[in-house]
Formats: sequence, structure tokens, C-alpha cells
Amino acid sequence: MSTQLGTLEELPTDYREAMDGARVSPLWPMMRNVLPHGQPNPVTKPAVWSFDKIRPLLLRAGELTPVERAERRVLVLNDPGRGKGAMQVTSSIYVGLQLLLPGEKAPAHKHTPSAARIVVEGEGAFTIVDGEKCAMERGDLILTPGGMWHDHGHGGTGPVIWLDALDLPLFVFLEGSYAEEGELQAPRNRPDASQVEYKQAGLVPSRNGGERPRYPLLRFPWKHTETALRSLAEHAGHGEPVELDYVNPETGDSCLPTLGFAAMMLRRGETARPPRRSSSGVFHAVEGAGRSTVNGESFSWKRGDTFSAPVFAKIEHTADGEAFLIRIHDAPLQQKLGFYEERA
Ligand SMILES: [Fe+2]
Repeated sequence: MSTQLGTLEELPTDYREAMDGARVSPLWPMMRNVLPHGQPNPVTKPAVWSFDKIRPLLLRAGELTPVERAERRVLVLNDPGRGKGAMQVTSSIYVGLQLLLPGEKAPAHKHTPSAARIVVEGEGAFTIVDGEKCAMERGDLILTPGGMWHDHGHGGTGPVIWLDALDLPLFVFLEGSYAEEGELQAPRNRPDASQVEYKQAGLVPSRNGGERPRYPLLRFPWKHTETALRSLAEHAGHGEPVELDYVNPETGDSCLPTLGFAAMMLRRGETARPPRRSSSGVFHAVEGAGRSTVNGESFSWKRGDTFSAPVFAKIEHTADGEAFLIRIHDAPLQQKLGFYEERA
């Protein structure tokens, strides 16, 4: 196997000009960029985003730009590996923090990428997804899958801030990203499915041979998640991971086609050392504080903060006390493409 590949510079000038004229270029000088040996060479650089720094900027955006002029009032987390203005936090994951003020409405639209929200601060906001009104309480995960109408409203008194996670970079790469605008939706007069059809784990509505809905559960209340994690933690040995995946309750598959979500509880005095995964990840601190090391870089975080990890990152998490993180990742996409892997 050759390790030394030819360079562009060693080729004669007339040959290089002729290639330019024919709109071709040689693969061999660029081959290792796209096919490195052994594992990928990610552009993504790990980083932490402090909620304390972003919150005042968001509130100022609330004064500077009315929601009608923004449609969605969002500050996007820029991957330092891609630089200022990068619409991605890892190769395939977009994350932004969105502000909605009391009485404001973010108009209805639908788009090809899928999205999920994690509520960071405030009470009284709601998201309507294809007519289903989902209350937004702190820590809740709310899905707006690709192609489904969604608008946001706020009947409370203080600002509401949530984290948006989308598979937007993938759709942009595929030249498949677009949106359509619509009228604000009239919500169905009933609670969301987490309070009706899927209130009890292990039980789903009888379909009597009928089709199962593609996105049966749109809201995963944090209260349910935290209770489930605490039950798991009670019976998990020291050092055993306390982690739950957010899934489609009808199929057990990931709750969105390309993005996966997992809630993790870190217990006092424990260090979690997950395997090195081929998926990239974004971690959001729902509760507590701690420190994580990603490829040797150490990040302190607390409630509201977000940090990222590129593919195959070596990661360690240690909580100061008890802490809860939600991990957003792209393993479902990689599994569908047949290359997801974990290494020790
Ligand atoms: Fe949207």
C-alpha cells in the first residue's frame, strides 16, 4: 500500500493548465483529504456555549428585532472548526437558541429538515405541530418532524428560550432544504399524546390492523424523563451508564429519522466514559453542573450550557453533584447508511 501520494506541484505546468481547461483535477493529491486511513478526520472542533453569555444577547435581540422581522429569533451556535456564521455545530447537526416573548407568535411553516426543541427557560409557551398543541416546560423535548406544520405561541409572562436542533446541514448538503409558509394553526382541543395515548410505558393504542402513525409522540415531558432516569439510577451499579433513548413508542426506532436524542443522568462522584462513537454529538445540560473532557480539551458546564463533540471523540463527563444532560447525535442517520460504529 502506498503512503506517499503524488502532489499537484510535481505535475508539469502545461498539464495542469490543460486539466483546468478540461474542468478536471487529479484525485491522488486530494485523496487522503477525503479518504484518510483508519478513521475520519473531522472539521468539527469541540466547544462549549455558555447560556449566561448567550441569554443577554438573545434578550437584546428581542429589543432589536421584532419576531415579525425575524420569523424565528434565533442565535445559531457556530462550530469553531467552520468559523463565524457556520450554520452547524457538527457536520450534520444545527443548533440555535430561540427567544419568544410574551404574546409573540412565531408564524406557521413547514420544511424538509426535521427539528426538535429542548426548553431551556420560561413558562407559558407552546408549539403546535400539525394541530397538536404541545406545552413547553423546561427540559421538555418537542419534535417538529420534516414536513409537519409548526408554529409557536406564548401565553406566559416572562421570556421563553429553547434550544432548536435540526438536521439542516444534511438537507443543505443534499440541496433539499426549503420551507413553506402557512396560517397559524387552530389547535385540537385535547392534551398532547404524551398525556393521552402514550402516558404509560409499554402501552400503545390498539390499531386493529390499521396503520401506525409515523410520529406518534411529539412531546417528551422532562418530568417523565427525569423520573425514569432516577428509577434507572437506583438500580444501576456504580459506573454503569444511566441513559435513556428517546424513541418512537410504536416501533422503538429513533424518534426522528436522522437525529437521535438520549437523556443521561450523572451521579455524584462518578465519571462517565462512553465509547468513542462514529456519530457526532451535542450535549445540553438540563440540570446540574460538571466538567467534560473532549479529545483532551476540558469544558466546564452548568444548567443551560451546551457543548459539542466531533465524531470518534474520546469523552469523559464528571458532574459536580447530580446532573442531567441530553445528548443530540446523528447515529440514526449513520445506522441507516450502515456505518455507525463504537470503539473502546
Ligand atoms: Fe421550523
